[in-house]
Amino acid sequence: MGKSNTAMEARGGSSHPVAAQLAVDDVSLIDFAKKAGKNIFSVIPDATRTQKYLKGPANIHYVCDPEMVTELLAGVGRRFPKSQFTRNVIGAAVGNGMILAEGEQWRAQRHRYAPLFAARNLPVLTSHFAATGEELASFFARAEGEVDVADSAQEATLANISRVMFSGSETVSKQDIRQGMRSFTDYISYMSLFDLMGLPSWLPRLKWLRSKKSITDLRQLTREVIANRQAQRHAEPEDFLDLLIEALESDQEDVETTVDNLLTFVAAGYETSANTVAWALYLLAMRPDVQQVLRDEIKSACPTGPITFETLLKMPRLKAHVLETLRLYPAGALFARDATDQTEIKGVTFKKGDVIMFPVYSLHRNELLWAQASQYKPDRFLDQKYQRGQFIPFGDGPRICIGAQYAETEIMVLLGSVLRRASFSMSDHPVAPPNLTFTMRPGGPLILKSTPV
Ligand code: HEM
Repeated sequence: MGKSNTAMEARGGSSHPVAAQLAVDDVSLIDFAKKAGKNIFSVIPDATRTQKYLKGPANIHYVCDPEMVTELLAGVGRRFPKSQFTRNVIGAAVGNGMILAEGEQWRAQRHRYAPLFAARNLPVLTSHFAATGEELASFFARAEGEVDVADSAQEATLANISRVMFSGSETVSKQDIRQGMRSFTDYISYMSLFDLMGLPSWLPRLKWLRSKKSITDLRQLTREVIANRQAQRHAEPEDFLDLLIEALESDQEDVETTVDNLLTFVAAGYETSANTVAWALYLLAMRPDVQQVLRDEIKSACPTGPITFETLLKMPRLKAHVLETLRLYPAGALFARDATDQTEIKGVTFKKGDVIMFPVYSLHRNELLWAQASQYKPDRFLDQKYQRGQFIPFGDGPRICIGAQYAETEIMVLLGSVLRRASFSMSDHPVAPPNLTFTMRPGGPLILKSTPV
């Protein structure tokens, strides 16, 4: 990355949001295997920000052309499976859950779970998110000084998941669930070199052996939570777990697959949303003017009391800010497919077995696609002038993120609740460039100053 975007520049007052350090020199396959385990950004060529298509080492392709992206995810390439390396990294944790399932198995699960994430259920979920939002706002308002917003945002999204997916059971303590989820997410955020190189899965992976217990424990807790709720039903669905149990009555699946899916939702939805909230606060700390405009919008749409789903519709600027945050800091900064047969798109031949990488981070900052690509300009999302395949924080096509509306709602509720009560400014601590393992996360603590409003 150019010198103008160093971590030092991210100290208070700079107008350049901190950027990832991509590979400026050629990356050989050996470099790839050596470096990717620590930070995938270090092997993604910087040229993916200035070109729309790039051939990587061996059989790797990088695609940043919106038409090719759309054709590969939603058109002719929609049949290509998730890449083997993703499977190696998270397979042990999420088993046959929806994120990795293929073919008929995937179709049945997607069909079964889609209604749970439908727009009509968002108001109920919003009331839980708002309760967490109030807690987070009180924490920031009381903190009056330096706070690690990355850490606090993770606590909040974890609280949300345990509220909407694992709640309401006296035999399973909240603390056990939080602890279980924390060790579980620690495990999946680790990517072993073996995994990237595609070595056999029976080779011991140190971290896996160490944290295997945390996964088996959390699986057992999840089974108990489901069984308890099945035994003590609410009259009307009050949370995600109620909706799930209701859905399973007419469309049954074995309990282990349900456990896989609940853990998939934890794996896919905890750090992703949390880090988006953290980056969103960081961008506002750099722009007190925008922060005040958003605060005014939120206060006028919902002056007091918990934020409701209906009031979010009156916050278009907050929504544009969230989208611009997802453009600059997309939690799913890279995902991939394996080509299963030879396909030609816009003059590029993808051979059977080739790995097709979608470097979402670079696509979202590609200079051929976005004006002032590396700068924070939330107004670009007020008039939504971008083409399909250019902005894909949640992917596209049949495998698009099932939790996209859930996540957007959760992030808006948390930010809305917090900004009404606390104001954020930059601290003297430098903000480290983002790091990419399974998801993209801040490269260290994200310390801002918080002041009550
Ligand atoms: C800011 C938050 C989030 C981001 C940026 C994000 C991003 C993504 C992306 C890019 C994909 C597609 C990956 C691919 O095509 O290979 C995906 C899939 C998925 N996401 Fe999310 N996600 C977020 C939040 C959530 C939440 C909150 C949940 C659930 C509660 C969730 C559940 C899933 C699932 C189950 C899939 C797999 C869908 C399928 O294959 O049919 N995500 N997500």
